[in-house]
Amino acid sequence: MRPSDIHCSSAIHIDRELPGDKSISHRAAIIAAIGDGESVIQNRATGADVVSTLQCLSQLGVEIETSATEIRVKGKGLNGLQKADRHLDCGNSGTTARLLAGVLAGQPFESVLAGDESLSRRPMRRIAHPLRRMGAGIQISEDGTLPMTISGSVLKGLSHTLEAASAQVKSCLLLAGMYAQGETTIFETIPTRDHTERLLPFIRKEFLPDGHKLTVQGGCSILPFNITVPGDFSSAAFLIAAGILIPDSHIRLRRVGLNPTRTGLLDVLEKMGAQVTIENHVVDAIEPFGDIVVSYNGETLHGCFLDEKIIAGIIDEIPILAVLGTQTDSGLEIRNASELRNKECDRIRAIVYNLRQMGAEVDEFEDGLFVHPSNLRPAAIKTFGDHRIAMAFTIAAMAAGGVSTLDDSECVAISFPGFMKYLGIEPTDRHRELLSC
Ligand code: S3P
Repeated sequence: MRPSDIHCSSAIHIDRELPGDKSISHRAAIIAAIGDGESVIQNRATGADVVSTLQCLSQLGVEIETSATEIRVKGKGLNGLQKADRHLDCGNSGTTARLLAGVLAGQPFESVLAGDESLSRRPMRRIAHPLRRMGAGIQISEDGTLPMTISGSVLKGLSHTLEAASAQVKSCLLLAGMYAQGETTIFETIPTRDHTERLLPFIRKEFLPDGHKLTVQGGCSILPFNITVPGDFSSAAFLIAAGILIPDSHIRLRRVGLNPTRTGLLDVLEKMGAQVTIENHVVDAIEPFGDIVVSYNGETLHGCFLDEKIIAGIIDEIPILAVLGTQTDSGLEIRNASELRNKECDRIRAIVYNLRQMGAEVDEFEDGLFVHPSNLRPAAIKTFGDHRIAMAFTIAAMAAGGVSTLDDSECVAISFPGFMKYLGIEPTDRHRELLSC
């Protein structure tokens, strides 16, 4: 754990690309590993979560070469993975655990998935139950958490409606469906990120009046592919907020992923009256991308009410949206977002705690929060070891002026190791006490 001081900020000027999207990088690596031939993933995500996925795949016998920007994966084909000689450590990464579980459910050997303290608290029944129905032997703790022992088997196709909107559960079951006899059909009533479907074009997608129906036929083979992963929109979100909040800032983020299932934040910012523009928008790629441009204009944001329909599309952006909520004219209310309590930490609690530390007025609900218009003051920020809480409150601290302290600046490396450098912050280890400037 590395504490650091966040000082009041002068204008932020950024004009560059971002490391590749984390969700796409996980999926590209896993899909390439069970594909045929060598696949190349360029502009890979650089964070620790994707490293967890790559390490697990190596343990399963997959040859992987990585450089600072690229991953080369020698696919083993659908049935070429080997039993790992010890448990597979998914670190902090829910995507690693849940997506790999889908693949491992169809293997003729036993695997054990484990994770760090945070991941070992996160719910796994949501994948354990449907995977058991497909025929896999799944053991989890009494609390429904990791470690998970998976006794792979010949699976049978499944028809399943997602209870909670979750791209991880959807992807887990689609991957398991590739190992099943017959068809596997997943219904989602609220659309979630569709990166898995985009990388596996043989998944059939039907748009129904009440949601999406996705169908995969067992036994399809995956051809080698070459993908340049667009910049991570969820990382961009923090820098977009810096451009909105910090006077005289100008931000241009090039070639950022603009998959519509991920960019709900842009819709919300438009409603809030923030000036964010998209240039060089490329839509005819596997994953759409473009440049995001934000210039500080000092205008007060409009208040907003966000609930069920939009939540899945902004789920990882809620911590930074809550920070922006303090700068609105009538407040920001977020409801139907109890999934936030199941993330790397209980994010509702973490947001409420830190906003209150910074002097904001916030109401907490079981399924969300209401952030009142508030002035922020410097404070001692507690990250709860959660990368997105750390990044959201680094931006809040910069906007607040003075000097705030962050109890753990290193956890940003889970998704965005270069985050502090993009903001021109050289983390210092001085101390945790509040200083004033
Ligand atoms: C992710 C899906 C989301 C998101 C997470 C990444 C993915 O989780 O919060 O950061 O890559 O599929 P859920 O599927 O649990 O909503």
